[in-house]
Amino acid sequence: MVKICCIGAGYVGGPTMAVIALKCPAIEVVVVDISVARIAAWNSDQLPIYEPGLDDVVKQCRGRNLFFSTDIEKHVREADIIFVSVNTPTKTRGLGAGKAADLTYWESAARMIADVAKSDKIVVEKSTVPVKTAEAIEKILTHNSKGIRYQILSNPEFLAEGTAIQDLFNPDRVLIGGRETPEGRKAVQALKQVYANWVPEDRILTTNLWSAELSKLAANAFLAQRISSVNAISALCEATGANVAEVAYAVGKDSRIGPKFLNASVGFGGSCFQKDILNLVYICECNGLPEVANYWKQVIKINDYQKSRFVNRVVSSMFNTVAGKKIAVLGFAFKKDTGDTRETPAIDVCKGLLGDKAKISIYDPQVTEDQIQRDLAMNKFDWDHPVHLQPMSPTAVKAVSVTWDAYEATKGAHGVCILTEWDEFRKLDFAKIYESMQKPAFIFDGRNVVDPEELREIGFIVYSIGKPLDPWLKDMPAVV
Ligand code: UDX
Ligand code: UDX
Ligand code: ADP
Repeated sequence: MVKICCIGAGYVGGPTMAVIALKCPAIEVVVVDISVARIAAWNSDQLPIYEPGLDDVVKQCRGRNLFFSTDIEKHVREADIIFVSVNTPTKTRGLGAGKAADLTYWESAARMIADVAKSDKIVVEKSTVPVKTAEAIEKILTHNSKGIRYQILSNPEFLAEGTAIQDLFNPDRVLIGGRETPEGRKAVQALKQVYANWVPEDRILTTNLWSAELSKLAANAFLAQRISSVNAISALCEATGANVAEVAYAVGKDSRIGPKFLNASVGFGGSCFQKDILNLVYICECNGLPEVANYWKQVIKINDYQKSRFVNRVVSSMFNTVAGKKIAVLGFAFKKDTGDTRETPAIDVCKGLLGDKAKISIYDPQVTEDQIQRDLAMNKFDWDHPVHLQPMSPTAVKAVSVTWDAYEATKGAHGVCILTEWDEFRKLDFAKIYESMQKPAFIFDGRNVVDPEELREIGFIVYSIGKPLDPWLKDMPAVV
């Protein structure tokens, strides 16, 4: 029986290993983590992450050929294939602060593998890492090898949160990079055999190590660039009277461009896009390519611009002040169908509104109050460095309340900001919400989930990203 061990039971490691276990009954999969609480949660009925379909997969194989454990060394020692899926935060201090990936966790995992291994291992990079990390890891392992042979593979994960299980069941492609030596090729084949249990052969791509590592950064950069492109156009749509939904549809009909991933929004979030682009920028700078670095940096600048543009619209439409006004925030997660708030645009929007002394009342179907308070207390990049967490200032705490109901959040509010595209927001009784709000009642739709015309008929003043402006907003030009 092939034995797989995955170091890191996070958003990537957990679901990926659960699906490998489900699809490969002949393989034993053990997911290990230093966090006792996380492993306990994976072994309970309350999994540590919310992901549609995940409970079902875990239930089917946990205790059969899928295990979660904190006994890291034992399982690493016994495994044939070791996936490393630990976090790679952005460095907050020292060389490359604010850009470069912090490989501390990766390095300590590699040193631990070298310490405990007693047989040959295939070590697979699963976390997104800078190009050439595999080389560094290879050096750590071979310089401490005690005669054991290691093969390093890069096998980046392309799943998106909220659709992780679907993405893993039916991936567009699986990418495996390895050394172009006979041993390297053999290791690539061994991992290919695992995926071949359910992924058609023509979707399993094999490349050299560096291509695999760079493809992951490039894919995320391209995806984020599409969103910044459509968001840049959304600003121009508002200025000219064009409708971004119509423009995006027309553009996406070109088969060379394609229809997906062209929804204008308040900005992209999530743990990957910004981090990976910053990483790409840093790598370009280190390789003497400032023009290329600046090109990609612009994708992040437009994303930041989109978030501050949204806050400016809110404040300027409400007579240039939101001080003391209740603003309801519907949706805090970085996208629907996940409870994840890492880099969610809601954090920047809420902080912007709090900066103007608003009182905000937040409702999200999956995010807890504790999480929201922690997110709003954090500095940039702290989310990936749990030790840096600071308590929120008492005045800020008072200005934020969290409810478990959209109607409660909007009651008595002057304005409503929709920041996540949860399906349930489309079905809200907006006439009821309107009745309970202060007048004039404003809706700022950062995800284009509501029909502006319908809401205007109820009496709302409506702002939707990239849609023709409400006459009210034309009279109150925002500094954008
Ligand atoms: C992303 C990549 O899609 C995935 O392949 C990679 O493995 C990890 O990073 P994820 O961050 O989970 O996945 O979600 P994704 O669906 O890509 O959305 C990222 C952000 O972009 C979200 O905030 C989302 O709301 C936003 N988005 C997405 C838009 O604003 N408009 C779109 O058209 C699509
Ligand atoms: C373009 C648009 O494709 C077309 O829809 C529009 O109506 C007019 O502008 P055209 O300029 O005729 O058409 O040719 P196109 O095939 O788009 O190529 C434009 C340039 O991009 C060429 O120099 C081509 O060599 C280059 N190109 C194209 C690349 O360098 N790489 C590619 O992958 C594709
Ligand atoms: P991702 O989104 O990439 O999956 P997460 O932050 O969700 O990242 O998960 C990474 C996991 O890796 C965390 O649960 C963390 O506790 C774990 N981890 C970090 N370093 C180590 C290590 N040296 N050994 C075991 N687990 C680790």
